[in-house]
Amino acid sequence: MKFKLARQILSKDLHEIIEREVKRQKFVVLRPTKKNLTELAEVSGTIQKQGFVKHLVRKKLSHNLGHGIFLHKEAQPVAKGQMIAPYAGAVSLVPQYGGDNSAYVFDLLSEILLTKEEQALFDKERNYHPRRRYSLILDAYKQGNFTRYINHSSHPNIIARYFKIPTNSLGLEPAPLEIIYMAKKTILPGEQLLVSYEDEEESYWGPLKIKPFPMTPQTFQLDASLKLISTSDSIAFSI
Ligand SMILES: C[S@@+](CC[C@H](N)C(=O)[O-])C[C@H]1O[C@@H](n2cnc3c(N)ncnc32)[C@H](O)[C@@H]1O
Repeated sequence: MKFKLARQILSKDLHEIIEREVKRQKFVVLRPTKKNLTELAEVSGTIQKQGFVKHLVRKKLSHNLGHGIFLHKEAQPVAKGQMIAPYAGAVSLVPQYGGDNSAYVFDLLSEILLTKEEQALFDKERNYHPRRRYSLILDAYKQGNFTRYINHSSHPNIIARYFKIPTNSLGLEPAPLEIIYMAKKTILPGEQLLVSYEDEEESYWGPLKIKPFPMTPQTFQLDASLKLISTSDSIAFSI
């Protein structure tokens, strides 16, 4: 697997801005439990070493959907609340409503205000404007891990949670804000992992002018020989 980034890439300058803005905006971030931290250490260690986790499988889908991620048919079910992995990529600041995001962008935080010095550092092309707002984005287009292949559904079995990773004894780099995919419900062997890309503003599909293909975790599934099958007659196929 080409994409082996265990966790997000965050510069020290951004670290400070995020901490300040999370506080200023009273943005709600979760404090991880001990179990969350142990799972994070385990999964990020595995991704770093092996590029993937062995209970998941990547498969190419039909309908121009690209690839998707499935729970291996021989794996144990994934329990609700279990950690899947961080949605990793390069974190950067962009002017708000910039609009030319890749399909792998996750919006972390918006309405960010920068000082004159920070604007000069992060927005070199333009003159300072005190009321200009910025968004913090994470792009998994060039660097990321298997979570970049998790497709969209309005009936997801995965949820994106915002965590603050504190100083810890597990060797995990602290982070003021990190997106981690968790199981929203029990995931059964063979099912596809799906997350909703839409926030309250429905900002993912609108600008792309695409109506998402309606699928649930059961629409496409792996059979015992890890072939892809469709449970819907109208899109029956096998590859
Ligand atoms: C983060 S990527 C997901 C992985 C992608 N399938 C791949 O192989 O790279 C997001 C892109 O996958 C496709 N996609 C994901 N879910 C979809 C859905 N429900 N309907 C249509 N396209 C979808 C769209 O092209 C979308 O921009």
